[in-house]
Amino acid sequence: MSTIKNNDLLLDNIGSNEKYPINFSELEQAAKEKLEAGPFGYIRSSAGGEETYRKNSNSFEKYSIVPRFLTDVSALNTEVTILGRTYPHPLFIAPVGVNKIAHEDGEIAVAKAAAKFNYPYIQSTVSSYSIEEIAEATEGSSKWFQLYWSQNKEISFSMIQRAEAAGYEAIVLTVDTVMLGWREEDVRNQFSPLKRGFGQGNYASDPVFMAALPDQSKDAIIDSMIENIYHPTLNWNNIEELREYTSLPILLKGILHPEDAKLAIEKGLDGIIVSNHGGRQLDGVIASIDALPEIVEIVNGKIPVLFDSGVRRGSDAVKALALGATAVCIGRPFIWGLASGGQAGVERVLENFLQETNVSISLSGARNLEELRKLKIVRS
Ligand SMILES: Cc1cc2nc3c(=O)[nH]c(=O)nc-3n(C[C@H](O)[C@H](O)[C@H](O)COP(=O)(O)O)c2cc1C
Repeated sequence: MSTIKNNDLLLDNIGSNEKYPINFSELEQAAKEKLEAGPFGYIRSSAGGEETYRKNSNSFEKYSIVPRFLTDVSALNTEVTILGRTYPHPLFIAPVGVNKIAHEDGEIAVAKAAAKFNYPYIQSTVSSYSIEEIAEATEGSSKWFQLYWSQNKEISFSMIQRAEAAGYEAIVLTVDTVMLGWREEDVRNQFSPLKRGFGQGNYASDPVFMAALPDQSKDAIIDSMIENIYHPTLNWNNIEELREYTSLPILLKGILHPEDAKLAIEKGLDGIIVSNHGGRQLDGVIASIDALPEIVEIVNGKIPVLFDSGVRRGSDAVKALALGATAVCIGRPFIWGLASGGQAGVERVLENFLQETNVSISLSGARNLEELRKLKIVRS
């Protein structure tokens, strides 16, 4: 439960002489000034003509909140219970790989900032640091593990067992990346993080992965990662297999079709993340926020429905929550914070994001997430 004091959240930020990037485009600009063209382009860009990337954030403008007043919003409770665990607020860190291309401290900096502001951290398979390294750096905070299926499925099973042993709370299987999307900016810049040796944290530390290599050279690691990450055969049977190797809840990330949401429930999955990977996979797909309402309807509260793609500020998160998302994952905004200011940069992004979200919920007239979900949202 947090108490909103008169103007405190905004005025906390005003008073020193320090100036810093505050909105998404300022953060992106600050990161651009720090990064080389290759890493900057890799993070910024999306697939194809970036139609879906643009639609993701623009589509939020179609949804308008119709607020209620005179509801005494002096006490706000943003707690959310997901799969038996209660989190203080409904904001998560989306899984983003190869963070070292943005900053030397990479995922460690992000996971520490996340722990400080109580954002559950979803660690990517292609992290620069391993599951065990992140766990050690952020003991006691909530962490989930995102899995990219491996062509050699024993590697997948090994990684989820490591995540379980390290105290991670859930497995997120990304289903929209059976191969990389068509990303022209990376071809233009001739930049592939994997080919340059980034994102090996979980592979180079995995006994099953390392044992399967022809030799232990750097090139062998890179070649085998690239080979394993391409997994076009992924299908519903693999998920049943996955289930045998972990007792952790399993969520599917990348669901856009209501029928796939329905299938996920039928197959016994524990949750889904409505996402189009920030427009980085198939260009031309539906904006994530447009996919959300129908999926929420068909799921009908049976499993949690998390959400990402295009969330740029607290009021976007509030719209997604009002449309029925159980929680919202933040992606690019925190990476720009990382690139521009390391851990402190991420902390500032997460703190401001949380504060804007809290102010927005209160100003909508809701006192908790249940009331927020009952709020009227009109679509233009
Ligand atoms: C640079 C970058 C790397 C990403 N790496 C992963 C990843 O390793 N695994 C994954 O499931 N999603 C990954 N994503 C997708 C994010 O989890 C999330 O779906 C996306 O960032 C949401 O879009 P937005 O950042 O535009 O809001 C990545 C996104 C970016 C921008």
